[in-house]
Amino acid sequence: MCGIVGIVAGRDVAPLLLESLKRLEYRGYDSAGMAVLRNGAIERVRAEGKIVRLEERLAQTQLPGHTGIAHTRWATHGRPSERNAHPIMTSRVALVHNGIIENFAELQAEQGSVAYESDTDTESVAQLLTQYLEQGKSIEEAMPLVMDRIRGAFALAILIAGRPDILVAARRGSPLAIGYGEGEMYVGSDALALVPFTNRLCYLEEDDWVILHRDRAEIYNQGRLVNREIVYSMLSGAITGKDGYRHFMMKEIAEQSVVLGDALASAIDPASRQVALPGLDIDWKNIPRISMIGCGTAYLAGAVAKYWFERLASLPVDTEIASEYRYRQGPVDPQALAIVISQSGETIDSLAALRYARGKGQRIVGLLNNPESTIARESDAVLPVHAGPEIGVASTKAFTAQLLALLILAIQAGRARGTINAATETALVSALIEVPAQIAALVQRREEFATLAHALRDSQHALYLGRGLSYPLALEGALKLKELSYIHAEGYPAGEMKHGPIALIDETMPVIVLAPEDEWLEKTLANIQEVRARSGRAICFTSAQGARRLGDGVEHIVMPDVHPWVSPLLYAVPIQLVAYEAAVARGTDVDQPRNLAKSVTVE
Ligand code: M6R
Repeated sequence: MCGIVGIVAGRDVAPLLLESLKRLEYRGYDSAGMAVLRNGAIERVRAEGKIVRLEERLAQTQLPGHTGIAHTRWATHGRPSERNAHPIMTSRVALVHNGIIENFAELQAEQGSVAYESDTDTESVAQLLTQYLEQGKSIEEAMPLVMDRIRGAFALAILIAGRPDILVAARRGSPLAIGYGEGEMYVGSDALALVPFTNRLCYLEEDDWVILHRDRAEIYNQGRLVNREIVYSMLSGAITGKDGYRHFMMKEIAEQSVVLGDALASAIDPASRQVALPGLDIDWKNIPRISMIGCGTAYLAGAVAKYWFERLASLPVDTEIASEYRYRQGPVDPQALAIVISQSGETIDSLAALRYARGKGQRIVGLLNNPESTIARESDAVLPVHAGPEIGVASTKAFTAQLLALLILAIQAGRARGTINAATETALVSALIEVPAQIAALVQRREEFATLAHALRDSQHALYLGRGLSYPLALEGALKLKELSYIHAEGYPAGEMKHGPIALIDETMPVIVLAPEDEWLEKTLANIQEVRARSGRAICFTSAQGARRLGDGVEHIVMPDVHPWVSPLLYAVPIQLVAYEAAVARGTDVDQPRNLAKSVTVE
């Protein structure tokens, strides 16, 4: 989603801004732009599409200047186009924005005859600030007025014409970090954008606004100068590469065996085959229930974990789609533990749900891939999933790393609550130890999944079915297929098919069934027969034994034998490979599917 960056320095900033923008590219965007102050005048270059197009424009139109801002835009108000790309300019300012200005229409109406150059909500802020500056107000006077007038979520970086010595920034709702360099200062949407230049960062708090000079940051909140702690980022300034893979997504699928192996090593004792999760102090015995909160794939990791916590730890779990949770206003048990799951740690819906849960008195554990994120900072405790940078918009290794962390946590809870015995724990941990090698072997069989995906490439629709732990995984399979290949797909509990979706079954509808060797297998096999009886095309992922029981004519891929309660970690991989290969076969943009963003920072 939108990424912003700004630099005030003693050298030309355009190349630095470009480098930083490239590091924000993973968030997803549809246009990009940059502006600098040259002899006090604002100059700007924008382009629709990828950053490479902006780079081409910059090769034709140099932007010399020591103070500048840049932006990747993910359209909310106004279609993706050069006209709506940021920076948005007026006679006095250039401004980049991440978020949504909710009262833009009201502001625009108040501004009367002012001619807008774009269709964006952002322009209402640029025009408002311009109005105050034209009334003769100083920046220090104008910014608090602007902050008072605008509603919604925003991170802003602003150039002021005639003031090449400063950069102004502000935040509410959307994250913003300040970077402290040697004689230059930076501002950016996340640490990744800034660490090529400095590891000394400070994260602005709600309603902070700041004037950046080359040597300092003056941070204001509610009319007062405030101090914010400077922290040292552990993130690497090196650009993450594809390591010879065609797409980040395939690289990240392949990395799962190593990621899970490393994560396991830090969470179990291989000698005793028991869970040994350091540093998380949770009073499992006295927790009445869990609220499992997330969006998209992160939510689905929580939906799988519901089965684990309920069965292994006898702990009821409410799975909560973050964007619904706080608005539903249902009864919330303050004694319940809230587990907020997020790869980025910046998803605004999840952050808002976290704040809602905290407001209701719940303790928050953040299950996160980015421990330097806003959700990490606002959680009571953080359980890092250690998947490493995930650049592909589709979540793959973060998902399986989330699953692993949640299963480990459920085992820990079960042991503490006395609902599993040592033998069960040993069996589960032993099964987990096999998983990294099993995933590596599955990735080696990529061709089988490519063949299957090729056969799907002309389908308009597909169904994913599963029971028990495989039901949320079926939802994930459908989500992956649609977001990557744009084939419309639905996930269903296999037993629910006969209550509606069975009407869709004909010879053109592929039905992908997840059928590991578990307590639900018998019933799932019966559902496959129901598909077959209606001339449907069933494709089944199952064990060798399950495959023998399928009967003739059911396409299948034989999966490694795996403990039933560990199966989601393994069955997640074929659904990723099928979606990936289908996307490649259909020629879609695998790493940045249309309309999607990696970090969803608007509601
Ligand atoms: O960063 P988060 O884990 O909070 O992101 C949540 C969702 O936006 C994300 O999982 C999304 O559904 C992915 N595109 C799925 O592949």
